[in-house]
Amino acid sequence: MDIKQAILNRRSIRSYQSRLIPRKLIEELLEFTIKAPSGKNRQPWRFVVLEEQNKDMLATIMAEKIDSRQQQDLDIGSSKISINAINQASVVILVFNAFSKFEKDYNHYRLLTDTQSIGAAIQTMILAAEDFNLGTLWICDIFYSEREICSWLHRDDELIAAVAIGYPNQSPSSRPRTSWTEITEWLR
Ligand SMILES: Cc1cc2nc3c(=O)[nH]c(=O)nc-3n(C[C@H](O)[C@H](O)[C@H](O)COP(=O)(O)O)c2cc1C
Repeated sequence: MDIKQAILNRRSIRSYQSRLIPRKLIEELLEFTIKAPSGKNRQPWRFVVLEEQNKDMLATIMAEKIDSRQQQDLDIGSSKISINAINQASVVILVFNAFSKFEKDYNHYRLLTDTQSIGAAIQTMILAAEDFNLGTLWICDIFYSEREICSWLHRDDELIAAVAIGYPNQSPSSRPRTSWTEITEWLR
């Protein structure tokens, strides 16, 4: 598959087959992921791969937290949909920023730069996954239970996102996009 096809074919996948992804394939996916560009080549990304009962634990932690938030009438975003996808996925990869909580002179621009670098890594991961015929879902609903997840994993660095990955069990049509002509200012 060429890169253009991967970009065009990719969809957020929220329903997966029960078939598990071989470990070797996840390793290969991570090998592609770390080829992403990063500001000053800082490579701020860190990954935790969750499979089987650890992935179930993530879903449980998220579900418990959204139950308690719902009881308090607090926003839960699309958490229920995300938890459902996590339950069905073969693996979930949590992505952390290694530096944001530790560097003394960490400022707003550094945060913007490192976050862009991590976004580039995630996008690289999901496009490579497309080439492997895997489906992915980029998940930020993990933020509702960020503290609980980090404490469970004994992580002091900053949780940025989760990516659910599995063999797709759906082929959603493309979500609408605003034409680039409406959102681009072209100066000459
Ligand atoms: C930063 C980011 C966070 C996202 N978080 C979630 C999420 O928590 N749950 C979810 O179901 N989808 C999530 N998505 C997927 C978006 O809803 C999806 O990309 C968008 O609706 C466009 O659909 P498409 O990916 O199929 O083109 C997220 C996407 C991005 C880029």
